[in-house]
Amino acid sequence: DDADGVDEESKQDQLEEVRENPEGEDLTSDHGVKISDTDNSLKAGERGPTIMEDFHFREKMTQFDHESIPERVVHARGTGAHGYFQPYEDPDLGDEYDDLEEVTKAKVLTKPDQKTPVFTRFSTVVGSRGSSDTVRDVRGFATKFYTEEGNWDLVGNNMPPFFIQDAMEFPDLVHAIKPEPDDAIPQASAAHDTFWDFASLKPEITHMIMWVLSGRALPRAYRMMQGFGVHTFRLVNDEGDSVFVKFHWTPKLGTHQLVWDETTKLWGKDSDFNRKGLYDVIEEGYDPEWELGVQLFDEEQAEEFDFDVLDPTKIVPETEVPVRPIGKMVLNETPDNFFAEVEQVAFHPGNVVPGIDFSNDPLLQGRLFSYQDTQLNRFGSANWDEIPINRPVADRHNNQRAGFMRQEINEGKASYKPNSIGDDDPQEVPAEEGGYEHYAEKVDGTKIRNRSDSFEDHFTQARLFWNSMSEPEKDNIVDAAHFELGNVDRMEIRERMVYDLFNNVDHEFATRVAEGIGVDPPESPGDELPDHDREDPSLSMENRT
Ligand code: HEM
Repeated sequence: DDADGVDEESKQDQLEEVRENPEGEDLTSDHGVKISDTDNSLKAGERGPTIMEDFHFREKMTQFDHESIPERVVHARGTGAHGYFQPYEDPDLGDEYDDLEEVTKAKVLTKPDQKTPVFTRFSTVVGSRGSSDTVRDVRGFATKFYTEEGNWDLVGNNMPPFFIQDAMEFPDLVHAIKPEPDDAIPQASAAHDTFWDFASLKPEITHMIMWVLSGRALPRAYRMMQGFGVHTFRLVNDEGDSVFVKFHWTPKLGTHQLVWDETTKLWGKDSDFNRKGLYDVIEEGYDPEWELGVQLFDEEQAEEFDFDVLDPTKIVPETEVPVRPIGKMVLNETPDNFFAEVEQVAFHPGNVVPGIDFSNDPLLQGRLFSYQDTQLNRFGSANWDEIPINRPVADRHNNQRAGFMRQEINEGKASYKPNSIGDDDPQEVPAEEGGYEHYAEKVDGTKIRNRSDSFEDHFTQARLFWNSMSEPEKDNIVDAAHFELGNVDRMEIRERMVYDLFNNVDHEFATRVAEGIGVDPPESPGDELPDHDREDPSLSMENRT
């Protein structure tokens, strides 16, 4: 694209080329032959068997038989919408930085006159494609920015910590939380033995469990939900200098939850509650908005924290580093075709643009492999990036070729480098002219399969969360623990949750949980725990409404 970058409509214009809205036209086969009868198969005789020759029947039925693609292995249930992202003019970055260009060269974040088209998909994690919206679960919040410098995918959740610290544990987590393998029960709830068995043996999960038991797991509407990039990422400027960043989406309407009784009624009465909510408000013209905020901190600050910024079970408390709003996202257009847009959109945290880079968070590092890999399973082809909803608006030009369902017709003889005979040889672009260059982080180490000692405090931030809750929020968390653990058959799992996890968070909390699930009250952990009563007011939903 030209120097002025993409415009808000550029993705819609691109999609327009593949939208098909024929009106009043003839019915044809997929190959353009006009069809005279689409209700009756071709038969041998008045009441005879159907004949192989019936190409219209075979084509219609084959297409139907192949309509479904595998659902996402996680986050199968979701919905999405188009919109735009626009950076603010002169965002307030506090005393440390004058403007964003000081920390990143990413044009999508720094050009206030530019509206970058986006597509955002919200999702639950555990349930299958047809499950209910209002279950107790984490929500996905994934945004594809079609920037002038290529696609950037910010693939986040509505809670800022995560369950585990290393990508190696992800298949275990998902096997534990999905329906149990023998009876495929429960469909979309965490209230079962395998999940709590895993949790009770995995103390690093404690912080995330506090969020999952809270109202955060029952969002009232997608437009009333925060989003978080979760991992520490890097921003990189023109000079190649880097600061760490945490990304935050903050809804203009405030952060609101449903209460448990509402959610359980909705499972039955309106299992599309969140999906419909998003669709309806956009159709009615009330376009939902979120602010994108950043927490910026450098290596020296990171070393001062009492947790490791590479550990995805930790947040950077807002009391330590404030969130600075830098722009807004507006979702203003519903999809035309759910399958083509919402189902086929394929995110990948490895899609970054110059100025945005990764940290060594071992969960993020593993995700950089997993998403590309899983799209091969879902689409059966490396050409999933050619599907209209996934195509960048920025130009693409390279020597990648062929494969199942290739859409591009690449001309010429040379699809290799170096070559001397191609007229259209794609040229590498130096970093100064916009080529992506990875941040030159110094890395020097001994090969080792390990867990860093700096990842070992599993309870301090869980306690920070508990301490930051209002009394009604605490009551809701205790009630949720009663329901969830009350559905666990094995008593030893309930006991481990109380004694090994919750009692290390807060003795009173553990005692209240124990009372409701037939577990003897725990003894006070006494002096073994670091004694502090820190709070971060931003964690309470009451302060976010
Ligand atoms: C979806 C893997 C952690 C957010 C997925 C999918 C896979 C996956 C395979 C399905 C993608 C598809 O079929 O299109 C992993 C692995 C993780 C991990 C291996 C850890 C090692 C996370 C974390 C977050 C997250 C920490 C939040 C920051 C999402 C979201 C989606 C998703 C939002 C749905 C994207 C959509 O709407 O299509 N993940 N995930 N995941 N993941 Fe992760």
